[in-house]
Amino acid sequence: MIDAGVSKVAGDDKEMSDNARDHRSHQAPVLVTGAAGYIGSIVVRRLLDRGYRVRVLDRLMYGDDAIRNILNHPRIEMVVADFRDRAVVTRAVRGVGAVIHLGAIVGDAACALNDDLTISTNFEGTRIIAAACKEAGVRRMVFGSTCSVYGASDEMLDERSALNPVSLYANTKIAAERALLALRDDAFSPVIMRFATAYGHSYRPRFDLAVNVMTAKAVAEGQITIHGGDQWRPFVHVDDIARALILALEAPIEKVAGQTFNVGSQEQNHKLREVGEIIQALVPHAAVIINDLIVDKRNYYVHFDKIVSVLGFRAEHTLAGSVLEMKNALDSGVVLDYRDRRYNNHQYLCQMQNDLTRETNRPPVVRMAMVTPMTQFMVAASGD
Ligand SMILES: NC(=O)c1ccc[n+]([C@@H]2O[C@H](COP(=O)([O-])OP(=O)(O)OC[C@H]3O[C@@H](n4cnc5c(N)ncnc54)[C@H](O)[C@@H]3O)[C@@H](O)[C@H]2O)c1
Repeated sequence: MIDAGVSKVAGDDKEMSDNARDHRSHQAPVLVTGAAGYIGSIVVRRLLDRGYRVRVLDRLMYGDDAIRNILNHPRIEMVVADFRDRAVVTRAVRGVGAVIHLGAIVGDAACALNDDLTISTNFEGTRIIAAACKEAGVRRMVFGSTCSVYGASDEMLDERSALNPVSLYANTKIAAERALLALRDDAFSPVIMRFATAYGHSYRPRFDLAVNVMTAKAVAEGQITIHGGDQWRPFVHVDDIARALILALEAPIEKVAGQTFNVGSQEQNHKLREVGEIIQALVPHAAVIINDLIVDKRNYYVHFDKIVSVLGFRAEHTLAGSVLEMKNALDSGVVLDYRDRRYNNHQYLCQMQNDLTRETNRPPVVRMAMVTPMTQFMVAASGD
């Protein structure tokens, strides 16, 4: 089991008393979708550690490795199912106190493989969960969105900025955000969390994320190629995302109901070329090659003042620290081969493509209003 980099994930909330923990264990469970994923597998452990009961809903597209060793935990319930199935979701939300919705087809490249699957999962699936929450009287639904919704922009961006998505992935997230906010009322409080591009090690490693894959290539191949390099991108450690989600879960409802938060930190807006420099300083044998061909057009510099002022969030991890953590995981053999398809959503789904297109049990695809017409998909990009 992976310990490097996630050893601090659980158990570091020293301020919480045993009483508080005990109180939570008697509360209604929190439903976490996508719990077997890169972010979800850390969120679930953090929740358990804080004393919550957790119900997990995941179709295990990438297997159950990330959560297998906690499935016997007395406060965890596992539902292996597809959240596009209304009957499943109706049962899954019954009796829960709140929902953290992270399940999705994730990343520009993975989402471009099968439009129907992407739209039905990221958009329609989110609406199904929200409708079930409303019906069951579950008030708080914390939604994992992405700063990719800002797309390509030369402005400094905050939560009120215009959106300029450049992928189907971002479009489905925007459509889902809007659908959630349209359902908001006194009894239903969606909270939108737009994560910066994540980095760092997790119980489900992902080596299709910019910092992770660049570090792995530097360590294993002694070379990183950066396309373009002048694009701004905000980054955040996967464990800091998990902490932010718990802040959104525990904040007084009036502070967060119907609110959107960028999740990250100002200092961790970097040009991709700078990321290469940080990695090279820590993996000195690696060469950084700048290729002027820009494959990934996303370019956005994001402000994170709101999550600091409203939720008191501060990122605890640094990009350099994570590069070292990742380097150790690779050097020590915790990750045997970063090129393994399991660690790359696009490659893994390519392999499963035939199965996916044969799927017959998904609900009919619902028309989704696109923010911009989709004229192209970027299959080579390492999106989040
Ligand atoms: N990782 C990032 O850099 C990043 C950045 C911004 C936003 N996000 C968002 O955070 C969330 C989690 O991302 P991640 O990196 O952990 O993704 P991931 O690909 O590692 O995990 C996604 C999980 O969702 C599950 N899933 C997918 N479709 C499902 C369905 N129909 N029913 C049940 N389960 C389903 C998969 O089995 C998988 O376990 C996503 O919503 C993503 O859009 C991630």
